[in-house]
Amino acid sequence: MTSRLAERLRQLQGAISDEPAPELSGRLTRMVGLTLECVGCPMVVGDRCLIQGDSATSVEAEVVGFEEDKVYLMPLTAIEGLKPGARVIPLASASRVPVGPQMLGRVVNGAGDPLDGKGPLQAEARVQLTGDIINPLNRAPVRQSMDVGIRAINALLTVGQGQRLGLFAGSGVGKSMLLGMMTRFTDADITVVGLIGERGREVKEFIEDILGDEGLARSVVVAAPADDSPLMRLRAAMLTTRIAEYYRDQGKRVLLLMDSLTRYAQAQREIALAVGEPPATKGYPPSVFAKLPQLVERTGNGRPGGGSITAFYTVLTEGDDQQDPIADAARAILDGHIVLSRRLAEEGHYPAIDVEASISRVMPQVTDSEHFSRAQRFKQVYSRYQQARDLISVGAYVKGSDPETDFAIQHIGNMSQFLQQGLNESAPLTEAIEQLMAVVPERRSPERRKTAVPNPAGNRDNV
Ligand SMILES: Nc1ncnc2c1ncn2[C@@H]1O[C@H](COP(=O)(O)OP(=O)(O)O)[C@@H](O)[C@H]1O
Ligand SMILES: [Mg+2]
Repeated sequence: MTSRLAERLRQLQGAISDEPAPELSGRLTRMVGLTLECVGCPMVVGDRCLIQGDSATSVEAEVVGFEEDKVYLMPLTAIEGLKPGARVIPLASASRVPVGPQMLGRVVNGAGDPLDGKGPLQAEARVQLTGDIINPLNRAPVRQSMDVGIRAINALLTVGQGQRLGLFAGSGVGKSMLLGMMTRFTDADITVVGLIGERGREVKEFIEDILGDEGLARSVVVAAPADDSPLMRLRAAMLTTRIAEYYRDQGKRVLLLMDSLTRYAQAQREIALAVGEPPATKGYPPSVFAKLPQLVERTGNGRPGGGSITAFYTVLTEGDDQQDPIADAARAILDGHIVLSRRLAEEGHYPAIDVEASISRVMPQVTDSEHFSRAQRFKQVYSRYQQARDLISVGAYVKGSDPETDFAIQHIGNMSQFLQQGLNESAPLTEAIEQLMAVVPERRSPERRKTAVPNPAGNRDNV
């Protein structure tokens, strides 16, 4: 009898030690819009938790703020089946996301789950969503050029490895097309594309039509369309950066393309307003302006000798307004901006890069002096034509009144041709520089005038 009892006791003891520790859980008390309030369970901002719905469903949420004993939560997925008093169970681990070489050619959502129906991801590792911050003083400086495969950028706005640029444009001006061309034509080792807050249809179009099989094979795509929760959109932007960091830490030269930084800022605005942060600048609460550099500063060069992340962030300038607060903030934290012009797009001039309004701040450090001065010369001549453009078009410009303008008129056709590029035409860096040298004749010094090769503008002294 005693032995049977002892045996039974041992069995029960075994069962007890296998049981997980008792769960601490809170209760859902309020839900307004996307904000959920929970009591009875202290959690730290950024913690994850599961809210148990009425049936088998549960909703994952993240702590985004608190007030006295109330904790504010924001769901990651659609909220369904939640009722007052629902159990809120904190999750122990910080959220981890998959990374690894097998992600190449895959499309994932903000949680790292595949969206492309190509089966589960064979991730090499799962890492925390926020990578280690590299001390800015330990980062390699931007010194080498990066071939992005776009002639106007390679020749006139040369990008450096580890540079961060903004692509400023209104909607429908050709941002997505340009990013797609870069993905296909860049010589970067890998491209990581983040599609944040776009319409679902655009995501599909971008992947199937613009990237195509060729572009997709050399990239990883993270997509969080506009109907994803704002938290998921933020996560997708962070995941895009995290995947790029992973490849950089493997010594790769990564090109990160994020479309768009504005939608990322808007997702943060939705969250901040929902938890009661007051709006400051044109409806954007201050935390938005703190979040932007936190995301952007993670890209760039790694430690010397390591890999790099060269990044392009698209910034929407609604109604082509360059004074938008997000555009302003982005301009201040990025090392260059490329502006797409609606006028050029309407003229059928693609890519519609406004070379006058665009600048790459690292160009002097990554180009030789001959290339740099020729690019400057191109911009001067091009600008001269644009200044006189209205006069010329109404026939009010009298030929011969300004030699520099005459020169510009003579070359504008070639220059404009040079700036345009077909969707399927690649323009490698060295080729782009050679073409730049050919399209704008050098400004000739008086001594060299006699021996110089004759050119169409040979009779003008001040060329
Ligand atoms: N390089 C290009 N060549 C020809 N057409 C283009 C080019 N880039 C853009 N377009 C035209 O502009 C439209 C909008 O481009 P898209 O890249 O989707 O704009 P955005 O992403 O800025 O909203 C395209 O559907 C296409 O008709
Ligand atoms: Mg687009």
